[in-house]
Amino acid sequence: MTADELVDVEIRLLLEGLQQVYGYDFRDYADASIKRRLTQWLAESPFETFSQAQSRLLREPELFVSLLQGITVNVTDMFRDPSFFRTLREQVIPFLKTYPFVKIWHAGCASGEEAYSMAILLNEEGMAGRYRMYATDIDEAVLAKAAQGVMPITEMQRYTRNYQKSGGTASFADYYTARYDRAILAANLKKDIVFAPHNLVADAEFGEMNMVLCRNVMIYFKPALKERCLRLFDNSLLPGGFLCLGLKETLERRKMGDHYDELVPGSRIYRKRYG
Ligand SMILES: C[S@@+](CC[C@H](N)C(=O)[O-])C[C@H]1O[C@@H](n2cnc3c(N)ncnc32)[C@H](O)[C@@H]1O
Repeated sequence: MTADELVDVEIRLLLEGLQQVYGYDFRDYADASIKRRLTQWLAESPFETFSQAQSRLLREPELFVSLLQGITVNVTDMFRDPSFFRTLREQVIPFLKTYPFVKIWHAGCASGEEAYSMAILLNEEGMAGRYRMYATDIDEAVLAKAAQGVMPITEMQRYTRNYQKSGGTASFADYYTARYDRAILAANLKKDIVFAPHNLVADAEFGEMNMVLCRNVMIYFKPALKERCLRLFDNSLLPGGFLCLGLKETLERRKMGDHYDELVPGSRIYRKRYG
């Protein structure tokens, strides 16, 4: 057995142990990506091998939390992929406006930027007070950050450009207050978002959603886990509801693909068929 194959065995044993001890199951995450993340964590840890780390990881929950944060990729942006938000504004919001009240689920919301971008969009389109958002993630540390709604001030120029590219015409600076090196988001953007822990591997659906966004999360999963997530989203969505994936993700070749039509080719915004 080569040294690399031995590492694969150690990783399999470690993931099995974590599942049994903490109930977090990463065995259906894509092999190459989880190996890369774990190897990076190991290089920054005091341990030389996964076997060495394993006994401490299974006994020390704080150490497991640091590993969890190493496994999850929390990269996100305000108005990430501005063309996606432009399509939402032009093609999706007009449908949503026909409902008295809408419910939206952001699955894998990281530090909340996607949900806050959506709140800006909905408020600008006259839907203030007519929506509730559920923004969930497996990583509770990143959720705590999300709930604060505080971002580095250095990002604001880039976020302003994204906002403008997405079709925003207001002054982006009106949505936050600058304080030293931080930007504090306006309270009216936060008040209708509920941040909560939810694990796509194990937890149940959210009922009666008009829209589910799960962008740039399933790229880290094996096909069987992608199918599980899509079933979960399908069970959560009302007929006529919208499912939004990341630009590198697709419903093609997925069982659920037959129940949906892509709104604009390449947009990765899918509408659930009636019946
Ligand atoms: C790259 S971020 C995507 C953030 C946002 N959706 C976007 O596109 O900007 C991926 C997020 O998925 C979360 N995640 C990973 N596995 C998950 C799981 N099993 N259940 C829920 N969230 C998960 C990670 O913690 C991370 O915050």
